[in-house]
Amino acid sequence: MPTALVTGASYGIGRAYALELAKRGYDIVLVARSADKLEAVAEEIRATHGKTATPIALDLTEPDAPTQLFSRLQADGIAIDFLMNNAGFGDYGAFATSDRGKIVAMVQLNVLALTDLTYQFLQPMIERKSGTIVNIGSIASFQPLPYMAVYAATKAFVLNFTEALWAENADTGVRFLACCPGATETEFFKTAGFLENGFSSAQPPLSSPESVVQATFEALDRSNDATVVAGTAIDKAMSFLPRFLPRELLAKGAASQFRPKSNDNKS
Ligand SMILES: NC(=O)c1ccc[n+]([C@@H]2O[C@H](COP(=O)([O-])OP(=O)(O)OC[C@H]3O[C@@H](n4cnc5c(N)ncnc54)[C@H](OP(=O)(O)O)[C@@H]3O)[C@@H](O)[C@H]2O)c1
Repeated sequence: MPTALVTGASYGIGRAYALELAKRGYDIVLVARSADKLEAVAEEIRATHGKTATPIALDLTEPDAPTQLFSRLQADGIAIDFLMNNAGFGDYGAFATSDRGKIVAMVQLNVLALTDLTYQFLQPMIERKSGTIVNIGSIASFQPLPYMAVYAATKAFVLNFTEALWAENADTGVRFLACCPGATETEFFKTAGFLENGFSSAQPPLSSPESVVQATFEALDRSNDATVVAGTAIDKAMSFLPRFLPRELLAKGAASQFRPKSNDNKS
């Protein structure tokens, strides 16, 4: 039975990926920190799709977490056919006054854990000459984003890294895809601290997690593209236009759009 590993599967976009992968016939390994929420998603998968669902509560900001996960699955004889590197978070506010622990953890999760998981799970896929690795970037992958500087830089890494591995692995049987969602209705904006900084929410229209998942599988099923932008026509334009504009103009334009509206310690 093919098995998919989904990080950040306890809610949000990751939960939607886990449900869709189960619907497509995969057994699912679900990873996130919240054991209770993971078990609820696992139960939903078992009840709705009759697939094996294995929840593993793990904090992927811990440097040895990817190795722990890989070793545990190897010991249990579970081979991963589809790696969905979805877990990630952002932080909104001026870099100089941001919480150092939060930005270091963000790089650890969005960049280092994703890279390490890709490295470890890619090896057996290459040996089997088959597998799929989808990494979640963002519309923020395509340009510098003042007041989300570290987040956008982590997502630029994800896009660049994934496109390079897509080309490197063209003949290995392992398919890479970077999925870059626009603003999507999840806990992301709350976790990033948008709401406490004078934004009522992200700017509508928001995409649904299910539409992000649908765009991902359409790209995997119908094309050999390295990247898919999942979102509105504006999101697609925002992924394309930056290549024609001076970087300084992009950064300054984004700064005026994203400058915190409230006068608290993050402004
Ligand atoms: N929503 C958007 O507008 C948007 C747009 C572009 C890209 N993205 C990207 O999409 C991905 C999913 O985000 P989302 O929107 O679904 O956000 P979300 O609703 O906040 O979900 C984040 C998921 O990541 C898990 N997670 C967070 N920290 C973790 C850690 N240290 N270790 C393991 N798991 C962790 C969370 O579970 P626990 O709390 O249980 O650990 C949760 O399952 C992220 O990479 C995000 O950057 C989102």
